[in-house]
Amino acid sequence: MTMKRKLLTASACKKIAGAAILLGAASSLAVQAVETKDIIKHRHGVMEAIGGHFSSIFATLGGPQEMHSNFQFHADSIARLAKISVGVFPAGSGEGKTDAKAAIWEKPEDFQEAMDLFLERSETLAAVAKTGDPQQIAGAAKKLGGSCKGCHDDFKKKD
Ligand code: HEC
Repeated sequence: MTMKRKLLTASACKKIAGAAILLGAASSLAVQAVETKDIIKHRHGVMEAIGGHFSSIFATLGGPQEMHSNFQFHADSIARLAKISVGVFPAGSGEGKTDAKAAIWEKPEDFQEAMDLFLERSETLAAVAKTGDPQQIAGAAKKLGGSCKGCHDDFKKKD
């Protein structure tokens, strides 16, 4: 190992570094596109998961008593996913297969407000789920749904 390292002269190192920079520049655009694709995929995955738990809350409310033990899990999952969702809208991720509106980045304060309401209401639902009372849970879940709709109305295309 030591021998090989010694053979790598300073000038060889410079050449390698130069080539790496050139290669990096050439592929940086492609890398950027791939990264954005994954950012958007992750965003969709997080939102789909939120949607799955959200509709499950209502399904368990309507379903037989045995399903009621799942309230807490679904509510906690939404609250945790809400925390993740705060970070899935980085600047520059508005291009591609996405329904995210440019308003997210043009009006960051309004978007933050919608996000804060979502965080607050998902925490409330997780707390209310502890009561196990279907009526209270339904009320908190409906309120949470209002925060989804509010954000989608302003910041999501279609819908
Ligand atoms: C602060 C804003 C905001 C909140 C709150 C929010 N969403 Fe979203 N949601 C978005 C945006 C923006 C998109 C579009 C993302 C994209 O296409 O890149 C989206 C997309 C979705 C999608 C479609 C995902 C896909 O694969 O295309 C579902 C389902 C969804 N949201 C469900 C929910 C539910 C359910 C809630 C509430 C429990 C919620 N969202 C709360 C902003 C929000």
